Amino acid sequence: MGHQEKLDRLEKLKAEALQGGGQKRIEAQHAKGKLTARERLDYLLDEGTFVELDMLVRHNSRDFGLEKQRFLGDGVVTGYGQIDGRLVFVFSQDFTVFGGSLAERHAQKILKIMDQAMKVGAPIIGLNDSGGARIQEGVVSLGGYAEIFLRNTLASGVVPQISAIMGPCAGGAVYSPAITDFTLMVKHSSYMFVTGPNVVKTVTHEEVTSEELGGADTHGSKSGVNHLTCENDLECLQNIRRLLSYMPSNNLDDPPRIESNDKADRLIAELNDIIPDNPNQPYDMKEIIELIVDRDSFFEIQPDFARNILIGFARFNGQAVAIIANQPAHLAGVLDIDASIKAARFIRFCDAFNIPLVTLEDVPGFLPGTAQEWGGIIKNGAKLLYAFAEATVPRITVITRKAYGGAYDVMNSKHIRADANFAWPTAEIAVMGPKGAAEIIFKKDIAKSENPEDMLAQKEKEYRDKFANPYLAAERGYIDEVIEPAMTRIRIIQSLQMLDNKADSNPQKKHGNIPL
Ligand code: HXC
Repeated sequence: MGHQEKLDRLEKLKAEALQGGGQKRIEAQHAKGKLTARERLDYLLDEGTFVELDMLVRHNSRDFGLEKQRFLGDGVVTGYGQIDGRLVFVFSQDFTVFGGSLAERHAQKILKIMDQAMKVGAPIIGLNDSGGARIQEGVVSLGGYAEIFLRNTLASGVVPQISAIMGPCAGGAVYSPAITDFTLMVKHSSYMFVTGPNVVKTVTHEEVTSEELGGADTHGSKSGVNHLTCENDLECLQNIRRLLSYMPSNNLDDPPRIESNDKADRLIAELNDIIPDNPNQPYDMKEIIELIVDRDSFFEIQPDFARNILIGFARFNGQAVAIIANQPAHLAGVLDIDASIKAARFIRFCDAFNIPLVTLEDVPGFLPGTAQEWGGIIKNGAKLLYAFAEATVPRITVITRKAYGGAYDVMNSKHIRADANFAWPTAEIAVMGPKGAAEIIFKKDIAKSENPEDMLAQKEKEYRDKFANPYLAAERGYIDEVIEPAMTRIRIIQSLQMLDNKADSNPQKKHGNIPL
């Protein structure tokens, strides 16, 4: 065989691999509004940077007619490339080949890029679109999944891991995305569940569609499994790029800093009267966030789940930070089970990857009730406390209004190692709300009084005047400074600069035992 013939042979093989499961199946994929595995990588990565590995891998199965169908690539496209000039490793399941199902070789390809990513310290991005374990291959598929789960676990906290669900993801396959740091889902074309509608019907007699059971909206609002709901494949891929822009490539790096599009010394006069006079009146914490961060830099995560707490990435003077903020516009910003879990996991990600925490606090306390107590608000609220307490990244807190009870301690207080604690003059820092406090400590006086309501109102006012302010906390140094709200952005930026070289650590241990 001459040189040209050898080159031609290679070209022919490559062309065959690029066809995946063939034109008809590609058309079927497009008809569902989905891009193909390779088209997705084209949009995800910087142009011309994708280097494919294992393009010529095939399965070696002899059962159920598989020996006659030996597609090149075995249903997954893997390799590395760049996002904003930074190295990332990717796998993209090809639904046109055996429904993207996972078998021995398919799994080996994913394992190879995961191992390589760990060695060089680069993020792992998985684009999932798969019918699950390849039914014809049996137990080797299960082994493949388990080996992926192991690597997901070992990579956790070492390199960022992002999963996009862009088609089916069912059965045990869901546990890889679940271990990764962020999961994105595409509306109407993706779903995730441990068992599908048919099994559900047999076992629990519930009638439910795939979309209701495990679609993007369900997991975005009810379970919290989905961190970002995307309208279509393109939006999903863009969101992955944006997400990565806030994080370092590995746990030994810092997040990239960019040239700020906003002034570091910007005073924000409208903050001075943004808190309503009536302490029970809600306001939208998101407005405050948008005003203080670099223009348009707030990227909210899990926006539809546990809306009483806001989490997301943002930038101050070009530096990436995590925002954790109570949202008084939803359930008065109370802490409940879902809110605690949502924020705790985000804080742990950011602490693992050197992203400073900026906490905005207006919290009336933990949500009372049997549903919360029986659901374990004790151990779940403790997750949030634990996550803050163990964090060693720079930590800043601004109390805008209420900071009551245990929730004051939990929300990044000085006592659990926050670095810079500010309060606005509207802050109310106390053991409990004035009304509840008056009812308890003046119970007898109120009962004896001829006009109990007036008496309660008067005692409530007394308590409010004395305790519902930031000055008792400031007197003790629990608050570093009571600031004019207009100064908030300036003080946060100064604090981040002051904390730039912060070094802190936890005692040596194998690992802690977060209350799961
Ligand atoms: C082999 C599969 C497959 C699978 C789909 N295909 N899933 N081949 N193993 N798991 C093939 C189909 O035979 C078909 O091949 C092509 O992929 C497209 O599938 P369709 O059914 O035509 O597509 P669609 O109508 O869109 O339905 C998609 C689907 C359905 C809902 C995913 O295919 C399905 O229900 N598949 C089986 C899902 C499943 O039960 N998986 C095993 C779960 S157990 P042709 O040649 O016609 O194109 C599991 C355990 C993991 O995953 C445990 C890990 C710990």
